Order: sequence, then C-alpha cells, then structure tokens
Amino acid sequence: MWEFSELLAHTFGLPSELALALLDLHGPEDTRVIAQRGELVAGLMLERVGQVWGQRVVPTALISGVAVRLHARRQGLAGHLLRSSLADMREAGMATAVLYASNDAMYRSMGFEHAGLSLTVSAPPAAFARPGQVERLPVVRLKDPLPARRLYHRSMVHQDGALDRGEAGWATIAGEHLESVSEWIALPGPDNELRGYLCYRLTGVGPDRRATITDFVATDADAVATLQAVVSRMGPLVSEVRLNTSPDDLLWWGLTHPLGPPLRAQPWLLRVLDPARAISSWGFSSSISGQLSVRWRDPLFPEDDGDHELVVDRGRGRWQPGGAGTLPLSPRPLAALLTGRANARTLRLSGTGRWSEEQDALLDGIFARRDAWMRDRF
Ligand SMILES: CC(C)(COP(=O)(O)OP(=O)(O)OC[C@H]1O[C@@H](n2cnc3c(N)ncnc32)[C@H](O)[C@@H]1OP(=O)(O)O)[C@@H](O)C(=O)NCCC(=O)NCCS
Repeated sequence: MWEFSELLAHTFGLPSELALALLDLHGPEDTRVIAQRGELVAGLMLERVGQVWGQRVVPTALISGVAVRLHARRQGLAGHLLRSSLADMREAGMATAVLYASNDAMYRSMGFEHAGLSLTVSAPPAAFARPGQVERLPVVRLKDPLPARRLYHRSMVHQDGALDRGEAGWATIAGEHLESVSEWIALPGPDNELRGYLCYRLTGVGPDRRATITDFVATDADAVATLQAVVSRMGPLVSEVRLNTSPDDLLWWGLTHPLGPPLRAQPWLLRVLDPARAISSWGFSSSISGQLSVRWRDPLFPEDDGDHELVVDRGRGRWQPGGAGTLPLSPRPLAALLTGRANARTLRLSGTGRWSEEQDALLDGIFARRDAWMRDRF
C-alpha cells in the first residue's frame, strides 16, 4: 500500500497522506499493482458503483490512479493491468467501466470511447446572484450528511451520467481525507427529508481564499434560487467559487454568461464490458421501439463475438444471439451510441463505426443523442 501511495503521490502530484487515504478508501481488493524484482512499478484503483442512464442504474466499475513508474513505461504494463482489471470487473457483474482520461489514445485502443465532458469553472460569488434574487427559505447546516445522501439518491435518476456513489465517492465529496473538511448547507423539507443541499469546502488564505462546491442538489425552483443566493453571499472573504459542472447543471444554469473559459474540461470515457448486461440494464428512450441485427466483435472478450439481435421496446433493451448480423458493432461505437455522445454519422465518418450510410438511420432510431455529465472526480 505504502509503495503504491508513493507512486500515486509522485505521478499525480498529490500530498502523500492524500494518496494513502485514497488507497485506504478503495481497499486492498480493489487496488491492483504489478511488481518487478521486488519493486512496485504499476498500479490502479477500482470501485464498483452504478451510473444512471435513462433513469436506470447500470453497474459500473470506476478506474482511477492508473500509474506506471517512469523507467517501466512503454513495456505494456498499464495495458496488462487494465485488461486484467476489466476482465475481473466483468466477472464481478459490471456492465461498463468508466474513467477520466488524460491519454485517450491508450484507452481507445482498449475499447473505451468518449461518453461525457466534465467542466471545472470558476466565478466570483457575486456571479451566482440573479436579479431580484432573495433567499426565500431558511437554510440549516447539516451535521450528519445522511439526509443529503438520501436526497441525492432520489434525484440522481434525473441526470444521465450521475453516479450511484459508493463510500469512496461520498468520502471524496465530504473531503474526509483532506485538511479542510466540507460543510453541508441544506433546506429542510417535510418528513425529515431535504428539498436541497450544497456541499462546499474552503481552502487558501487571504486573496486566494476559495470555496469549492463538491455537490449540489435541489428538487424545486425555490430550493435552487435559495441555494444560489447562499453561494452568491460567500464573498467578500471568498474571492472565487469553483464548481465541477456542465452547461445544464442547475447551479450553473441561469447565471449571467459568459463567465470566462472553464478552468478545465475533462473528458470521461466508457467501455462496454458485457453488451448483454449493458443493453438489458440501460434506460432507452421510452418512446423508441426497434430492432437491429448486429455482428459483434470485441478483441478483449471474444467469447461474446457473433451475431445478435438488439431489441429495444418501450425503454427496455434485449441482446439475444441470432439474426443476420448485418450491422458491424464493437465496444467503442456502442459506448458512444449508448451514452448519446455522438450520432451514427459522426461515428461512421470518423472511422469509429464501420456500418454503411444507409444504416445510420437505423442506429439513430434506437440511440438518442444526449448530454451526460458527472460532478464526481475520482
Ligand atoms: C499512461 C501510462 C499509465 C501508460 O503506461 P504504460 O505502461 O507506459 O502503457 P503501455 O506500455 O501498457 O501502453 C498501453 C497502450 O497505450 C499506448 N500508450 C502508452 N502511453 C502512451 C502515450 N503517452 N501516448 C499515446 N499512447 C500511449 C501504447 O502505445 C499502448 O498501445 P497499444 O497497446 O495499442 O500498443 C503511464 O505513461 C503513466 O503512468 N503516465 C502518468 C500517469 C497517467 O497519465 N495516467 C493515466 C491517467 S488517465
């Protein structure tokens, strides 16, 4: 553990205690390493969670902290570690795997494809003030985040890409392994439940003092306006509010734009590990029904290869052996189609998909374009 934490700290520029805490959160069974001649040279972390697609939760493995010592790079170690981890996660019942990529060539060569984009933005607190905005409802400070977790769980189904977080995810939101622990501000609702909450952390001193909002959920318009007003009053001691967001994030929506360029735009990629499990757990658009005869090929899991019918009926999908196999499909284009990141024409013209022009319409008839996002960083 200690050796891998030191590799993580060195590779990603993390404080050593933070790297150790991250490993602790994942636990030994979801930490994979390679040693050569007694030295730890490569490692990664895994976490089993769920991810929301079309109001359903798809079992998903999160992959993070992929690191190889400098002297051991380009020998295939990361590839080996990733392939064996993907096989284990598939065996454990995960339908997909998701990661943030700093190097998409490597992950694409293993069947991952772009699925969404996470933005980190920064704005002064006053930018969150809306004309005529008043804090309409009383807010409280939560000592126990449990009601916030329940509210998140109820509302996450409305956001494609949202994670059904595990303990490591919640610990990251709460900053449990960081020096400055997060605060929770909430709007109480009926029956001991909440109408909304925000979780934030303060860091830096003097003019660099900043608030980082790690989570935000609101379930009615007054709750949104109230929590926006709370953020707008974080100045003058806080000069900057940081937020992991997307253009249709409720906290971000309705602000006066443009606010300047995002600090960071980070793509996240998804790999289909098991097409039958992914299709049957996915939430398709309920107004869509259709059928495709697919010829599936996955170099990593050839046991699934062959002709299949992909059937979608009233929002539910099935993947059954048989059919004429007229449309060639593989993990990368299927990831982009399921997540709605790109349409069939884009995938065909970029060489990601190898079907004919006439088949574009068949695919677009089943897979709707959508914008998915994750607030979580892992
Ligand atoms: C990225 C990293 C993990 C790769 O480790 P590695 O052991 O050198 O990778 P491998 O030798 O197993 O290469 C795997 C594949 O990725 C490709 N690849 C590896 N590094 C690459 C790079 N910097 N740019 C483009 N492709 C790369 C290889 O060509 C290989 O592809 P192939 O199987 O089609 O030939 C390593 O360089 C590292 O630790 N980097 C710093 C941390 C980091 O960026 N981690 C990724 C976080 S998302």
